[in-house]
Amino acid sequence: MEGSARENLVRMPNPKTLNPEQEAEYASWLLELAGLLTSERDWLVNLANTSAFLNQRLTHLNWVGFYLWRDGQLVLGPFQGKPACTRITRGRGVCGTAAARHATIVAPDVHQFPGHIACDSASASEIVVPIEIPGRQIGVLDLDSPRLARFGEKDRAGLESIVRLLAAATDWPAFLGDAKPR
Ligand code: SME
Repeated sequence: MEGSARENLVRMPNPKTLNPEQEAEYASWLLELAGLLTSERDWLVNLANTSAFLNQRLTHLNWVGFYLWRDGQLVLGPFQGKPACTRITRGRGVCGTAAARHATIVAPDVHQFPGHIACDSASASEIVVPIEIPGRQIGVLDLDSPRLARFGEKDRAGLESIVRLLAAATDWPAFLGDAKPR
């Protein structure tokens, strides 16, 4: 087993030990997604299936997908929705800002977010969750909604759990990612 795969297995969350405050909906999605990811560790397959899964389960979305670090830029990855901006630089837009802060950003009204990058004029609110493994940030998960304030605390906690599961269930090739500051 490769070193990264071994590290990932150690970090694999146990869906049975979820925070009891976590919404039942996300808890059941997490178990479903764990089932989907259990037989496959390929990054492209898992990102594609995770974006399709989230698009089916969450309501009021107009875009869900991934931007991945490649050669110092966040480059468009697997997604569901309209064609989108292809490259985002560090610190730009909601995606680049969440990546730079190593923290989830919930933007209840994207038009109030300084530097928001509008890929689809239908987007009104957005949530971006960084994907991280030990020593490396892989990229971000980005969800857009045509509804203002679509994403709240429940979504932040639930999507962070989903991203932790995805990160642990996947083998990430060396060409994806950006070193995390120590
Ligand atoms: N709105 C994002 C850009 C990506 S799209 O929403 C698909 C941003 O401001 O980073």
